[in-house]
Formats: sequence, structure tokens, C-alpha cells
Amino acid sequence: AKITFIEHDGTKHTVEAENGMTVMEAAVKNSVPGIDADCGGACACATCHVYVGKDWLDKTGTAEQMEEDMLDFAFDVRDNSRLSCQIKVTDEIDGLVVDLPEKQF
Ligand code: FES
Repeated sequence: AKITFIEHDGTKHTVEAENGMTVMEAAVKNSVPGIDADCGGACACATCHVYVGKDWLDKTGTAEQMEEDMLDFAFDVRDNSRLSCQIKVTDEIDGLVVDLPEKQF
């Protein structure tokens, strides 16, 4: 699936992600700046925070309680905030666009 990350300054990075990995892993593997992922995907750091494009919210689903709790620690949380390590790559999300926050904490 193709995923596009848009940095706070507008710089776009479109990467190819394999099914089964997470959106966070796709970013880290492709050296997309702005995703720190300090905890390595354990939903314990909130430094993989992204804003899911409005058209994609149905497909990515919603955050579970643990993710919601961790999002409280993220910077500038919005309605469409997610932790990218909790979004699995599937064919369904091919073309996904996420915006990156100004900073991760
Ligand atoms: Fe730490 Fe996602 S990588 S919460």
C-alpha cells in the first residue's frame, strides 16, 4: 500500500508499505522525518503521533483505550490524531495520507 506522510512544513514523502506492518514502521523504514517512535511500537511513547486525513478515518478505524490514554501525552492532539504504530497496513488503506504534527512532544 502507498502511504503519504506530509511534514508540518508541507514536505511530502510517499512510501511503499507492506501489509501487516504498521504505518509507523513504514515511516521508520523509509526514514521519514518526524516520526520518532521511541518505544518501537508498544503504544507507550506517543512519539509516532500523526493526523489521519479526513477521508481516511473510516478505513483506519478508531483508537482503542490504551492508545487514547497515550495520546494524552502527545503534542497538539486533534480529533483525527492517532498513534501510527497502532494502524496496520492493509490493502484497504492504500493511498492513505497522514499529516505529521509540528513536533512529537
Ligand atoms: Fe511508541 Fe507508537 S511508537 S506509541
